[in-house]
Parts: sequence; structure tokens; C-alpha cells
Amino acid sequence: MLEIKNLHASVADTKILHGIDISFEKGKNTCILGKNGSGKSSLASIIMGNPAYEMTDGTITLDNVNLLAMSPEERSLAGIFLSFQNVTEIKGIQVSEYLRTIYNLHLPRIAPGTNPLSPMLFSRFLKPILTSCDIPESFMERDLNVGFSGGEKRKLEVLQLKLLKPTYIILDEIDSGLDLDAFKLVAKMLSECSGPDTSIIIITHYFEILESFSVDQVVVMDNGVITRRGWAELASEIRQKGFKE
Ligand SMILES: Nc1ncnc2c1ncn2[C@@H]1O[C@H](COP(=O)(O)OP(=O)(O)O)[C@@H](O)[C@H]1O
Ligand SMILES: [Mg+2]
Repeated sequence: MLEIKNLHASVADTKILHGIDISFEKGKNTCILGKNGSGKSSLASIIMGNPAYEMTDGTITLDNVNLLAMSPEERSLAGIFLSFQNVTEIKGIQVSEYLRTIYNLHLPRIAPGTNPLSPMLFSRFLKPILTSCDIPESFMERDLNVGFSGGEKRKLEVLQLKLLKPTYIILDEIDSGLDLDAFKLVAKMLSECSGPDTSIIIITHYFEILESFSVDQVVVMDNGVITRRGWAELASEIRQKGFKE
């Protein structure tokens, strides 16, 4: 379980989170809603260990271990994944090499005791996963994200979820700016990542993505605090009535 208690945080000397309490359990999915500027992305960044944010009070534990003592890399290897709001393009790094490197780094968690995969074995292993994500094999030769469309960048991110099988998957507005086909595919791929060993945390403005898979916990943030908590019905209620009530 990923457990956050009384989280207070600031960025650039401004207090932005004022006492957040929330837990994420394996097998349960969460939806975080809220207006722009309510602190949703800040919460995600702090969980991942973004050094721009300073935690001024509170605790975050991962299966009762202090998460704050871990670097962002260690958090990732422990099974926490945060999607990027703006995916970086990196010239000179081939997609296939990037994917193989991160896969081998995560092997001790994904498949303990197995050997790192060579380029040839990895390419064989990757083939069916590429097909399921509707990513052409030719993409593997390209530079990481360079010239990719918004939808293609998203697909590559979700492909990483399938490869790395993280336990806590935080998706910050992954559904924004996609055309309908890309949106449907991303939603389908996410629902395939859902299961008893994962906890998906969706931050969104759009309610459509919630139709693709089941959400257990719904919270609303406003001005750095959680103002409402509920179950799946809360999302439908807010969808109908807006954030005001
Ligand atoms: N790096 C930063 N520097 C300065 N202010 C920031 C930074 N990140 C977030 N903030 C401020 O913190 C508040 C919460 O922002 P954010 O967490 O991005 O909200 P949301 O994701 O809900 O839209 C906003 O007022 C925003 O301007
Ligand atoms: Mg945000």
C-alpha cells in the first residue's frame, strides 16, 4: 500500500498542499479530479520525488517503508510509475535500446532471478507487445519520441507500462490532446494493466476514460486539499452537476 498522511508541501516558497491524507491499495483504482491549479500534478510529482517540491510535513510510505528516503530512480524500481505530462524527445537514443535498458533494470522486480535480455532476445520478446499496442516495428529504430505525434508518444508510454508492470501507476492527464482512436486504444491498454497487483491512479479532467475501466476511489482536490471523497458514483455525480455542489 502507498500511504500518504498529512502531506504539506511547497514549491518555490509557496505552500501548495495543505494536509493531504490518501492511500492507494493494490487491486483498487483511484481517480483524482479537480480544477486547474488544485494541486493534482504537485501531489503526483511529490510521490515520484521531484526535487522541485519541498515536503514540509507529513509521511509517505510504501508497504510501511519510508518513501522519502528513496531517490526517484529507487521509487521507479520499487514499482511506482508516473507518466509525463510533456514527454521529452531525446535524439541519439534509439527506442529499442531505451526499452531494453529499462526492462533489464526492472527485471529483479518483474522476473526475479532471470537474466537480462540481449538485443535479439528482447526484440523477439517485444514483438507481440508492439502488436498489442498498435506500434509499428519500424518505430524501434527511431530516436526516442523524436517526431512522434501526441498519440504515438502516449502509446509508447503505455507500452512501457506493459513492459515494466509497475504496481502504482500514476497517469497525469494522459487522456488530454488525443484523437478519438488514440484515446480508445490508450483506454483499452490501461484497462489491460488493471488487476489485483496494480493500483492505477488517474488524474483527469475528462470523465470518458472512467468508462473504460472500474474506479474504486474518487477524490476531488481544491486549493491543495481533498474536499470530497467517494466511490465510483461520485465521478458520475460530478460529471452531471460540476464541481460546485
Ligand atoms: N514548479 C512550480 N513553480 C511554481 N508554482 C508551481 C509549480 N508547480 C505548481 N505550482 C503551483 O502550484 C499550484 C498547483 O499546481 P498543480 O499541482 O500543477 O495543479 P493541477 O495539476 O491540479 O492543475 C498552482 O497554483 C501552480 O501554479
Ligand atoms: Mg496538472
